[in-house]
Amino acid sequence: MKNLLITGGAGFIGSNFIRHILQLKPDVFITNLDALTYAGNLVNLSDLPDSANYEFVHGNINDTKLLKTIFNDKKIDTVVNFAAESHVDRSILNPAAFVETNILGTYSLLNVAHEAWKHRMNSVGGEEFRFHHISTDEVYGSLQPDDTPFNEYSRYDPRSPYSASKASSDHLVRAYHHTYHLPITITNCSNNYGPYQHPEKFIPMMIINAIQGKRLPIYGDGLQVRDWIHVSDHCEAIYRVLLNGLNGATYNLGSGSEHTNLEIAGLICDTLDTLLPNSVGESRQKLLQHIPDRPGHDRRYAMDITFVKENLGWQPAISLTDGIMQTVKWYLEHIHWIEEITKNADFSRWVQLNYDGRDERTI
Ligand code: NAD
Ligand code: DAU
Repeated sequence: MKNLLITGGAGFIGSNFIRHILQLKPDVFITNLDALTYAGNLVNLSDLPDSANYEFVHGNINDTKLLKTIFNDKKIDTVVNFAAESHVDRSILNPAAFVETNILGTYSLLNVAHEAWKHRMNSVGGEEFRFHHISTDEVYGSLQPDDTPFNEYSRYDPRSPYSASKASSDHLVRAYHHTYHLPITITNCSNNYGPYQHPEKFIPMMIINAIQGKRLPIYGDGLQVRDWIHVSDHCEAIYRVLLNGLNGATYNLGSGSEHTNLEIAGLICDTLDTLLPNSVGESRQKLLQHIPDRPGHDRRYAMDITFVKENLGWQPAISLTDGIMQTVKWYLEHIHWIEEITKNADFSRWVQLNYDGRDERTI
C-alpha cells in the first residue's frame, strides 16, 4: 500500500479513516476523491496536519475520465471505497441517487480499477493491488429477537433502497473478483458513531437536539436494536484488513453491544445531564418524543465478528459508555462545526420533514 485512493473521504467515516492512516502510515500517499454532496464537507478535514502526502480531488466516482487520470497520475495501488449515499430515510424519499452512486458509481470505479490493475500487472508487478469496498450489516436484512447475529455466510436480504443498493455493489465487487480475479476485500460493518457524523443520523441528531433543548424524535416504539461501534474501531479494522486481509474475503465488523434506540437516547441524555446540567436541573429525557415509524424499519441488526477476531486479531476497543461520553464531549467542543454543517437549506428542510412531513418523506 503506497498510493491510496480514498473515495468519500470528506464524509463521516472516510474523514476519520484519512486521519487514522495519516497517523499510522505517514509514508502512504492519499488521494481523497469526493463529490462533496450534502453529506461531504471539507470542514471535516480542516484539522488535518500539513502533509505533502495528501491531496483532495473534487469529483464523482461516476466520472470515468477523471478516475482514469487519477489512477494513472497517482499510480494507485489501493482503493478504499467509502463514497455512497448513506442515509436510509433519504433512500426512501429518493432512491435514484442511491442507484446512481452506490451501484453505478461502484461499477464505474471497479471498471477503472480493473483496467489499472491489468496495466500494472503488465508493467510493474501488479500483484500489490487491492480494491477494498466499505459496506454495511444492512445487506443481511433484519433479525428477530432470538436470531443469532449475522455472519459472513448469512443470506443477503436487503429491505430498503439503501441496503439494496449496497447489496448490489457488494455483489458487483465479488463478481469482479470471481470473474476477472481483481484483488478485493469487503467489510460489512454495523452502525458507527463518533466525531464528524452528519446530524441527520440518530446519535448526532439526539446529541445536538438535546444540547439545543429541542425534541428528540424516536421512530415508532424506539425498541429497534442496533449494534453500535465507535468509528475509530471501524477505521482500525479496515486498516488491518488492508494490511493482512485475505484476497476475496468478506469481514463482518461490529461491537457486539446491542441496544435499543430508547436506551441510546437515554444514555445520551444522562451523559449530557452530567456534563452540562440544564439550568433547572431537569433530565433531558423529557425531550424524547415518539413520532411515526420509518417505513419498512428493520427491527434488529447484530454482527458475529468471530472471523475477523480469529484471523486478523481485531476487536473493538471502545465501550459504548466511554464512546458516548467522548462523542458527546466532542460535539460540545465543536459547536462551530455543528453550525457549519447544519446551516444549509437542505438540512433545515430535512429536519422539518423528519418532524412534520412523514407523508412527503415516504413518497
Ligand atoms: P457519509 O454520508 O457521511 O459520507 C459519504 C461521502 O461520500 C460524502 O463525503 C459524500 O460527499 C461522498 N459521495 C457521495 N456520492 C459520491 C459520488 N458519487 N462520488 C464521490 N463522492 C461521493 O457516509 P458515511 O456514514 O461516512 O459512510 C461511508 C461508507 O460506509 C458508506 O459506503 C456507507 O454505506 C458505509 N457504512 C456506513 C455506516 C455508518 O454507520 N455510517 C456503517 C456501515 C457502513
Ligand atoms: O447499520 C449500518 C447502517 O447504519 C449504515 O449502513 C448506514 O449508512 C447508517 O446510516 C446507519 O443506518 P440506520 O438506519 O441504522 O441509522 P440511523 O442513524 O438513520 O438510525 C438509527 C436508528 O435510529 C434506526 O433504528 C432509526 C432510528 N432513528 C433515526 C433517526 C434519524 C430514530 O428513531 N429517530 C431519528 O431521528
